[in-house]
Amino acid sequence: MRLTSFQHAANVALFAAGVSCQSSLTASYSNTLQTITGFGVSQAFGRAQEFYNMSPTPRQKGLDYLFNTTTGAGLTIVRNRVGSGTVASDSILPTSPGCPTCQPSYSWDGVDRGQVWFSKAAQSYGVKTFYADAWSAPGFMKTNGVETNGGYLCGVTGHTCSSGDWRQAFANMLAQYVKYYQQEGIAITHLGFLNEPDYTTSYSSMQSNGKEAASFIPTLRNTLNNNGLSSVQLACCDAMGWSSQRTITTDLLSSGVQGQLGVITSHTYGSDVDGTINTNGLPIWVTEAADLNSAWCTTWYSNGGLCEGLTWAKRIATGIVTGNLSAYIYWQGVEVNQFQASSYLVASDGTNVTPSGRLWAFAMWSRYVRPGALRLSTTGAITNVIWAALRNTDGSVVAVFTNTGGSAQSASLKIDGYTPNRASGWVVNNNTGNNIASQSVSLSGGAAVVSIPAYSVVTVVLNQ
Ligand SMILES: *[C@@H]1O[C@H](CO)[C@@H](O)[C@H](O)[C@H]1NC(C)=O
Ligand SMILES: *[C@@H]1O[C@H](CO)[C@@H](O)[C@H](O)[C@H]1NC(C)=O
Ligand SMILES: *[C@@H]1O[C@H](CO)[C@@H](O)[C@H](O)[C@H]1NC(C)=O
Repeated sequence: MRLTSFQHAANVALFAAGVSCQSSLTASYSNTLQTITGFGVSQAFGRAQEFYNMSPTPRQKGLDYLFNTTTGAGLTIVRNRVGSGTVASDSILPTSPGCPTCQPSYSWDGVDRGQVWFSKAAQSYGVKTFYADAWSAPGFMKTNGVETNGGYLCGVTGHTCSSGDWRQAFANMLAQYVKYYQQEGIAITHLGFLNEPDYTTSYSSMQSNGKEAASFIPTLRNTLNNNGLSSVQLACCDAMGWSSQRTITTDLLSSGVQGQLGVITSHTYGSDVDGTINTNGLPIWVTEAADLNSAWCTTWYSNGGLCEGLTWAKRIATGIVTGNLSAYIYWQGVEVNQFQASSYLVASDGTNVTPSGRLWAFAMWSRYVRPGALRLSTTGAITNVIWAALRNTDGSVVAVFTNTGGSAQSASLKIDGYTPNRASGWVVNNNTGNNIASQSVSLSGGAAVVSIPAYSVVTVVLNQ
């Protein structure tokens, strides 16, 4: 757009005065979209045990940052790794029983590299969604004989082994893992058997495309059902990126396994959310996303770098609004004396515990948008703001505004079919001191009016 010098001068004057137009927005209380299951993290690969090993004060602080709805992010999902290694501390079946139908000798240490403690700690904050995910089957069940470096589960479409078909044995092992957690008082709600199956790497990894996965899913579903675990939902396939998971999902659906699946799952490393994936009605989650490359940073907003809070606020908002996500899980929660990257939300040196801007990006959703919330259909747009309205199961309405632009905005939000009589608001930006601050919201004629600073997220909660 070319501005006349008069328009340009007027815009400069408005900008300098901090004036912005008020955008009229509406959400429909009864016209609902996807259900939100929640937001979460993992402490896989021993990070849970290191977290547990801290002294009680910093350990408590770390847990509060992740799960507390008053002082932290109020996360509601834990993603655990089902280990496949060759030692009993990493796998419930570290050694081969000798053949696929031979009696397996499972072992359970009640620790699971700290994940049992972490899951119980999360439960004490009310967390109810536990996603257990196997990165690989044990090596003796795979075409390459090791749990690392790809290879396929023996017996899936197109992949046979001289040792036989191990699909039933792998399904039995996964069911046994769920039962061990049940014994600990932790109900695993979601179970996956792949992690980045479109990528081969030197740690636990197993390859699969959609058709190969579909040749195992019925066995796993039946095995869970036969073990009294029919309420456990199957998740697939945690692909490297959104476009890859789109291809895999097409193949899952055309293979006829939709009825046996509970949720479609994707990571965002290969490609980020750029629209919906046709899941034919199945919910879809981002089960892993992170900044794997930057040094540790606590910044809210500087230049749009991947470690910054606002960058993740935008990714979460895009995921929910554009990608129809029901859940968003970052890679790791708290890391202790790790390599100081930004692949986790909270860092500790064992004494100090420091949240990142990324943690507060999650908090602006997870503290207020609670499990079971329904996203509402909306009308109205604000320049440079991604916004969503959601209805909690207690009837309250939450609106989240993500302003990625350099100008303040203002919103007037009406909910068709709902007249609020109480409103509260929160904001996070560069000025809120690596935390969330309150933001004033006024109610006028049934509409909530709130200002949205430049480079900020504002969350509004409406009650009757
Ligand atoms: C969350 O933090 C508040 C404030 O410190 C505390 O009173 C409350 O007990 C914590 N909640 C849980 C579940 O630990
Ligand atoms: C969004 O996901 C829900 C399931 O969570 C599904 O019923 C709905 O059809 C999806 N909408 C779009 C536009 O994909
Ligand atoms: C926000 O703070 C960061 C440092 O955390 C600084 O680099 C940046 O310039 C600030 N940006 C704005 C818009 O205030």
